[in-house]
Amino acid sequence: MQLFLDTADIKQIREAVKLGVISGVTTNPSLVSKAGWAGDYKSAVQEICSLVKGPVSVEVLSQDAESMIDEARAIATWSPYVNIKIPVCAAGLEAISVLSTEKIKVNMTLCFSLNQALLGALAGATYVSSFVGRLDDVGQDGMELVAQIVQCLDHYKLPAQVIAASIRHPMHCVTAAKAGAHIATIPYSVLTQMINHPLTTAGIARFLEDSKQATGKG
Ligand code: E4P
Repeated sequence: MQLFLDTADIKQIREAVKLGVISGVTTNPSLVSKAGWAGDYKSAVQEICSLVKGPVSVEVLSQDAESMIDEARAIATWSPYVNIKIPVCAAGLEAISVLSTEKIKVNMTLCFSLNQALLGALAGATYVSSFVGRLDDVGQDGMELVAQIVQCLDHYKLPAQVIAASIRHPMHCVTAAKAGAHIATIPYSVLTQMINHPLTTAGIARFLEDSKQATGKG
């Protein structure tokens, strides 16, 4: 399973990239607003692309298919790493089906059902993003849906990759990997939590203490 970083915060992306475990980045309008990108949206995206050198999702804001396609074509010129995030809806599917014939990669977002994922994959989306945390929030099993989508796309040999999105904690990453998700897109805080374990921290402290005694420096 690959990991994408789910943020528009360039400082976080810079830190995460250093670890060598991040293959891409996903943004959305809420994350962009939170990161406080002032003015030049295009430059910020290009900076992220130059840091990550992997797929970077940028969401369209248009509502109708024709405008989505125009917006996607314009964003796709910003960097070869950019892919276009388009929400599941009739206009979105229409846009995806056109963009896929132009080799513009689409991350179909806001997916909350197997039917939506299937439609996105059939329309030609490169990624389908299944929102785990938001489904959990309304009392449905978000990760069970990820597992169903993985199984369905695999069964019908549809090439779309499944992104487990709306990840809230490290256990979501564990279950996403077990469900066979191709990618989990995770907030920086979850990446940090994945690294740390109290027994590792205690183990390092113990080894340091013991090494001082072994070398007579204690
Ligand atoms: C990523 O593609 C999604 O936009 C993101 O994971 C949504 O996360 P949230 O449900 O925590 O806002």
